Amino acid sequence: DTVYLNGDYLPLADARISVMDRGFLFGDGVYEVIPVYNGRLFRFEDHIRRLNNSLRAIRLELEKSPDQWRGIFQPMLDGDKDQYIYLQITRGCAPRRDHGFPEHVVPTVFAMCNDIKPFAGRLTGIKAVTLDDTRWQMCHVKATALLAHLLLRQEALDRDCAEAILVRHGYVTEGAASNLFAVIDDELITPPNSHEILPGITRDVILELAQANGIACREDIIALEALQNASEVWVTSSTREIVPVVELDGQTVGAGTPGPLFHRMDQLLQAYKQ
Ligand code: PDD
Repeated sequence: DTVYLNGDYLPLADARISVMDRGFLFGDGVYEVIPVYNGRLFRFEDHIRRLNNSLRAIRLELEKSPDQWRGIFQPMLDGDKDQYIYLQITRGCAPRRDHGFPEHVVPTVFAMCNDIKPFAGRLTGIKAVTLDDTRWQMCHVKATALLAHLLLRQEALDRDCAEAILVRHGYVTEGAASNLFAVIDDELITPPNSHEILPGITRDVILELAQANGIACREDIIALEALQNASEVWVTSSTREIVPVVELDGQTVGAGTPGPLFHRMDQLLQAYKQ
């Protein structure tokens, strides 16, 4: 397992950072998760654009072109396997712990490549629970400070559910680590991008595929009650792709099995990935 750390490639066990790293002390950093299918980085430019938006949002100056990033990742890719790149950038190490940004600090750049394990719930469907969205107001930033997300995901797991679907002001936003789609009156609906959700790359692909294939689709707010009455509910992410929710808050969704539009969109996505 070779990982990248600050310009070097080294075995995972040898990759070390200082306890003074602000990523460790404060969660002062951002990250990306980029799937690799058949040796190709999936929607690479989109991921780098989102990374740059995250960096800008936390005022971390680190400019690399997509080609420079590609050059960093390439040596870690393993043949034709389905993998994902995890990339994390923190503000770096300062001599002392201080909330204010240190001057002349060098960002820490870490990347590793892992196999994508197919998610078992993808074809059977999962149970989900709705929970109050306790996160901050910059959810569009892919920040490494994920404590609220972790507590929400664990709360779902403790209730025998695979994902938490988050509710703000009576409307559903997204999952603890996924975006959200619902089929309501034969129309595919997903909440619009805002500071309340992460602009998912999988979400974008699904919107494009719907458009290109004549599937009625729009971005709109979804009230909790509307979600609970939807005929299909999906959550989407780079690592799990499209996952149908077949039970929500203890009630079956639609027929209690992955719905027809899920099967159609999943087929379109699998074809698009090739
Ligand atoms: N998470 N919303 C949140 C809060 C997420 O953490 C993620 C992905 C998504 C989906 O985005 P995308 O389709 O670009 O993966 C939405 C990644 C996979 C993670 O944290 O591991």
